[in-house]
Amino acid sequence: MMSVAPTDPQSRLVLAIDFATPSLASSFIERIGAPPIIYKIGLELIYAGGLPLAAELIAAGRDVFLDAKLLDIGHTVERACASVAAMGAALVTVHASDPKTLAAAVRGRDGSKLKILGVTVLTNLGADDLIQQGHALSPEDLAVQRARLARDAGLDGVVASGWEAGRIKRELGRDFLAVIPGIRPQGAGKGDQMRVMTPTEAIHVGADYLVIGRPITQSADPAMALQGVVQEMTAAFEKPPRRPTD
Ligand code: C5P
Repeated sequence: MMSVAPTDPQSRLVLAIDFATPSLASSFIERIGAPPIIYKIGLELIYAGGLPLAAELIAAGRDVFLDAKLLDIGHTVERACASVAAMGAALVTVHASDPKTLAAAVRGRDGSKLKILGVTVLTNLGADDLIQQGHALSPEDLAVQRARLARDAGLDGVVASGWEAGRIKRELGRDFLAVIPGIRPQGAGKGDQMRVMTPTEAIHVGADYLVIGRPITQSADPAMALQGVVQEMTAAFEKPPRRPTD
């Protein structure tokens, strides 16, 4: 299972710019030369005045992924997606639990280029947590079920752990996007991520986009770390995985 090779693998790299302030984030972006990757702005930066930075990046022609993890009544999520679409963001996340809310999100982006990704099961939740919350399904089965709701509502894809991505692509179709966080190049520290994959492994299980943060943002030479990831992505997209019989 592998995604269609993009003409420009760099455009499939999502950099999580998880900094405490917009000025730290923008100095970092300047330091790496503002390459044409996708810049992911999450809750920390959104609530620390990060939206003007998002607008600046968009005005400079960069793709912005607003990791807003929306969840509310349909009407509110519809209007929120309309606002995000009007900003010119490329990607936004919505929790994939209620089909009515998901359909409303899709209505909200109508006529724009905004892609909507579903958040299925947060990766910090284990089987016991789900039982406590009243779910009978395993994290993987619930993630696939929610991914199906997202696809049926017209979302473009989901954020999924690499461990579920293969199943999601097989069961929901190769055009349904799998966006995979928890990426760690060989030899990088795991940080607080539990189940990690290298860029090569993630692409070979079907990732369309890779989300990576600290291995680049905390590197002593972030531009070189980024270049290393892009090189690995290019090779992985070009070369299919080896099968045991190869
Ligand atoms: O620094 P690191 O590479 O772990 O960053 C991963 C990014 O992906 C963070 O912004 C994190 O919030 C996000 N993310 C994740 N796991 C998910 C969903 C999003 O790590 N299941």
